[in-house]
Amino acid sequence: MAAVPSSEKTGEIRSASSGSGQHALTTNTAIVIAGASGDLAKKKTFPALFGLYQNGFLPNGIRIIGYARSKMDPEEFHKRVSQYIKTPIPALKDKLKEFLERCTYVSGQYDEDQGFEDLEKELQRCEETYEDKESPKNRVFYMALPPSVFTVVAANFKKHNYSKGGINRIIVEKPFGKDLESSREMQAGLKKEWKEEEIFRIDHYLGKEMVKNMLVLRFANVMLDASFNKNLISNVQITFKEPFGTEGRGGYFDEFGIIRDVMQNHLLQVLSILTMERPVSFSSEDIRDEKVKVLRYIPEIKMEDVLLGQYVGNGDKPGYLDDETVPKGSICPTFAAIVVHINSPRWEGVPFILKAGKALNEQKAEVRIQYKDTTSGIFSDITRNELVIRVQPNEAVYLKMNSKAPGLAMRTVPTEMDLTYKRRFSDLKIPEAYEALILDAFKGDHSNFVRDDELDIAWKLFTPILHQIDNDKPKPEPYEYGSRGPAALDDFIAKKVGYTRSEAPYTWPSTSVL
Ligand code: BG6
Repeated sequence: MAAVPSSEKTGEIRSASSGSGQHALTTNTAIVIAGASGDLAKKKTFPALFGLYQNGFLPNGIRIIGYARSKMDPEEFHKRVSQYIKTPIPALKDKLKEFLERCTYVSGQYDEDQGFEDLEKELQRCEETYEDKESPKNRVFYMALPPSVFTVVAANFKKHNYSKGGINRIIVEKPFGKDLESSREMQAGLKKEWKEEEIFRIDHYLGKEMVKNMLVLRFANVMLDASFNKNLISNVQITFKEPFGTEGRGGYFDEFGIIRDVMQNHLLQVLSILTMERPVSFSSEDIRDEKVKVLRYIPEIKMEDVLLGQYVGNGDKPGYLDDETVPKGSICPTFAAIVVHINSPRWEGVPFILKAGKALNEQKAEVRIQYKDTTSGIFSDITRNELVIRVQPNEAVYLKMNSKAPGLAMRTVPTEMDLTYKRRFSDLKIPEAYEALILDAFKGDHSNFVRDDELDIAWKLFTPILHQIDNDKPKPEPYEYGSRGPAALDDFIAKKVGYTRSEAPYTWPSTSVL
């Protein structure tokens, strides 16, 4: 996580990390990872904590305590913690050794006092090692847990492990229920014990570098900002594609489906950041106020604006229903395209197409803003401008624009203005989303976390169609593993939004750095 080279002039962002009146935790802090033996902890949480540790971003003297049901000795625990941590150079191996010395483990049930009492003893033992004996002791609780035990663990942490006198924070992650009602129930359970300013709800897309850049791209570039409106923009597509199926995760996935798994959270977050009005400041509450406001302009989503798909086998690639963890005959969508409107003065009439699917032809998360046709007359058959914000892989922002083809003839050719991160910021490492978010939680900056009313409105928008799908059980359109999605997709989009898939021989990137 290097900083921008000092030779570059960097602009300041005002009050980016103030807002909730919270303090940065710089010392005397322990973080408890509940669900420490699970997949999320192993693949994301511990590697992110190590990434921060090796760069000196964690509070001084940090202590990390894993908590889960499995019985493990310290050796086994350290093996799990380091399983996904890469140490390509010897210096990092030493750092990892140092990091592991800070990681201890307590096993205990999620619904019995005894485990939490043991955890309390371990917390106090760790806290005795703090150099600063005077200042209060802070505790952060990270919930890498299935939703079924979420509320009871949060309550037990509060009852047994809440620091008296210090700062307490709790980091939670989806799934936050399955619909508006269950989400409200879950949030009410959490809020019975924890104050909103103590809660950090992760949507890891908010920690992605390019998603964080969207506010700057828009509000720090007057010409981009000025073009973001219904007069110039024809339609916007927000796309999430994965080239693999649910392999092994089918049991979990089938309960949720692609709309709950990716759309109601990750893509809706991207949509709200992209379309919100300029916030009064970059403080967390100002940003989140604007996000909520724009979401409130979205009218109820109708089934006629939804296309559902489910992947089928293709060659040696299995179909969704071939996954043994998936219930027989499931009609769970693994692909969805949904058209959303924002009835605000800025966006009325502009269709936003959210598309998400598993087992597709490529890995990609991007925003594609297609501008309207240029006035006809002097040009014929000219491609539309498109601003593409590629979230992953290979972060880039490029503007498709027409130019005169060099030469004696007067012809146009589609070209691009291209900000490819690997080329422009070649020396900089892009932080992992979880690194960025955990660091924000230590800092007390809520900007990139989901507020309670934001979560509520996200569920309000999607619950009617989700219930309709659950009740009416529409059969999803089949699509082959590795394809672009259901055959009906292009027609659906063309009909709904008049999107023109450019047939011009244009490919990006045009140069071969990637
Ligand atoms: C998770 C979903 O929230 O996001 C997964 O549950 C999905 O199904 C994942 O694969 C995608 O995250 P990323 O960071 O790999 O794009």
